[in-house]
Amino acid sequence: MKKLTYTGESVEITYEVERCIHAAECANGLPAVFDPNRKPWVDADGALPDEVAEVIRRCPTGALKYRRLDGGPEEVASAAPAVTVSEDGPLYVEGNLRIHVPGADEPMGEARAALCRCGASAAKPFCDNAHEDAGFRDRCTIDLARAVDDDYTEETDVIEVTPLADGPLKLEGLIEISGVEGDDHGRFAGAFLCRCGASRAKPFCDGSHREIEFEAEGL
Ligand code: FES
Repeated sequence: MKKLTYTGESVEITYEVERCIHAAECANGLPAVFDPNRKPWVDADGALPDEVAEVIRRCPTGALKYRRLDGGPEEVASAAPAVTVSEDGPLYVEGNLRIHVPGADEPMGEARAALCRCGASAAKPFCDNAHEDAGFRDRCTIDLARAVDDDYTEETDVIEVTPLADGPLKLEGLIEISGVEGDDHGRFAGAFLCRCGASRAKPFCDGSHREIEFEAEGL
């Protein structure tokens, strides 16, 4: 995956090109640093490092990251891991994530990621905006039948995210899952989430990937 690095006096910014789906939190939040009409488009010295860090933490895909060179605080993953299902788009996941990309030597440690759920991304398990060309449409609500009770507790330091071969995303750990409407949400002790786009029980897998002979070549 192509990664670009922009080094300033106080902060280093990295940008993973294929993971950017133009949420534009960066350009809208700090145009002096992130200007798509400029070359290079990132000026790491264009704002105070705290401002740069705050805006990068809003990037929902994790395409942007920072490393402080001034001794300032590094990003800390959310202690409340969560999946947010977006309308017609990806699964936004946050927390202390360990993403097991097929073929990679090591799992990727991430705080934020946008994961494909339409089946069309060429950068699986990440979203690359292919849902737009694919005409993917979905506004699912969350079936809370398998949600855990409010008093359920489980020590969850890390959310393991594993794309199963030609099948769903397997999440391990206690995690909140929210639907498109936002008021349909619950906590789940792990989940299998559809990434082929064909499930009739979205966002959960219902085995439809076998019917459509889903092939997830990925990265
Ligand atoms: S991955 Fe889509 S139904 Fe299983």
